[in-house]
Amino acid sequence: MTKRTPIIAGNWKMHNTLAESAALIEALKTAGNKNNAEVIVAPSFTSLAKVAELAKGSHIQVSCQDVHWEDKGAFTSAVSPVQAKDAGATHAILGHSERRSVFGDTDEILNKKVAAALRHGLTIIFCVGETLQEREANETIAVINSQLENGLKGYTAEDLKGMVIAYEPVWAIGTGKTATPEQAQEVHAAIRQFLADKYGKEYAEATRILYGGSVKDSNVDEIMAQPDVDGALVGGQALLADKFARIINFN
Ligand code: 13P
Repeated sequence: MTKRTPIIAGNWKMHNTLAESAALIEALKTAGNKNNAEVIVAPSFTSLAKVAELAKGSHIQVSCQDVHWEDKGAFTSAVSPVQAKDAGATHAILGHSERRSVFGDTDEILNKKVAAALRHGLTIIFCVGETLQEREANETIAVINSQLENGLKGYTAEDLKGMVIAYEPVWAIGTGKTATPEQAQEVHAAIRQFLADKYGKEYAEATRILYGGSVKDSNVDEIMAQPDVDGALVGGQALLADKFARIINFN
């Protein structure tokens, strides 16, 4: 079990109408939080303001799933960090593997999005992870180090204070295949080592590193038992109030 304050975050992805989002946040408000975790939900942009309004005064914080790198302009369909913040987001997920693989978010683009989030005081949840092919080629740590190195290039420990890292192996996302607790621990320890080398031991020790990829009510306890796992970023089961409640209240 981590000595850092755990974070349990739900990424709702492209799910939920306004009514469904409202029902889910209302259910989560009364779901308990026995570990005093930081609980975060990331609705889609259409539900963000509504969910933030309903979460106000509760222990639940609201994140957006992405931001554009500019504050405003002619970028049809995109949402700026100013707008996300205005709608009530306190956090921004950046570099989710679906953003990287489906929408072409490169390390260079992410590096600009990091600047955008920092400009507006959004706490970054920076996602990294390897594909199955990369894992099988023994490239996991090299891939992740390069995502961290290039995505965060140019920022100091002071700039990145409070940033959260999410390790999400691409092969475990939405597949029902979870990394074993040992696999998660190995990568989390390597990420912490990277942070120590780059930003110092104190920064590394304070940074929360979340695991994501088929986290369920049935496997969260063993994953959270790992010393370098400080929380979970949950997809599918974050949409189900009772399942996500159990994950928040992990043992
Ligand atoms: P699943 O929990 O559905 O595998 O999704 C994980 C994820 O991508 C969270 O960001």
